[in-house]
Amino acid sequence: MNAESDFNEVVADTDYAMYIVTAAYGEQRAGCLVGFTTQCSMTPPRFLVCLSKANHTYTVARRAPALGVHLLGQDQHELASLFGESTGDEVDKFERCRWKVGPEGVPLLLDCDSRFVGSVLARFDLGDHEAFHLAPVHAHKGTGVRPLTFQAVLDLVPGHRAEEGSG
Ligand SMILES: Cc1cc2nc3c(=O)[nH]c(=O)nc-3n(C[C@H](O)[C@H](O)[C@H](O)COP(=O)(O)O)c2cc1C
Repeated sequence: MNAESDFNEVVADTDYAMYIVTAAYGEQRAGCLVGFTTQCSMTPPRFLVCLSKANHTYTVARRAPALGVHLLGQDQHELASLFGESTGDEVDKFERCRWKVGPEGVPLLLDCDSRFVGSVLARFDLGDHEAFHLAPVHAHKGTGVRPLTFQAVLDLVPGHRAEEGSG
């Protein structure tokens, strides 16, 4: 019995919605596919996003006042691939998708109409990821997407491996 490998097998069977998280700082823009998220309070409304320290997105997000959180629909596997399999260290993902500048300067993806902007209240070191504690300051409800979930993107190969981080 190995607790870590058993744990990995247990969580591999779970399923949850996938998001694209975006950030901007100065002229820099970043975004990546994220599965480690959860709402963590109802009153007041709060949300947690966990970013790998290896990701380009983390290097921008740690300086950003707010993050954009975009829910993906089942038909958006291609957008998930762009943000999950390539890195902003090598390509400008924002040249390959439709977006606009939103509240707090956050890049908003126009093809994701269920989304919110969260002001960063605090960050917590979690190991190879860091948690961003968000308070929603702007939200837009789309037409009711059926979420793209973790089990539907298991074919994607992350643009960065988490263990490349400093954590
Ligand atoms: C299924 C899947 C889930 C992922 N979940 C997360 C996550 O929760 N947090 C994170 O920081 N990266 C996650 N990633 C990895 C990033 O999306 C990926 O490494 C991306 O290429 C990083 O881009 P960047 O370097 O431009 O930030 C996930 C990737 C995949 C394929």
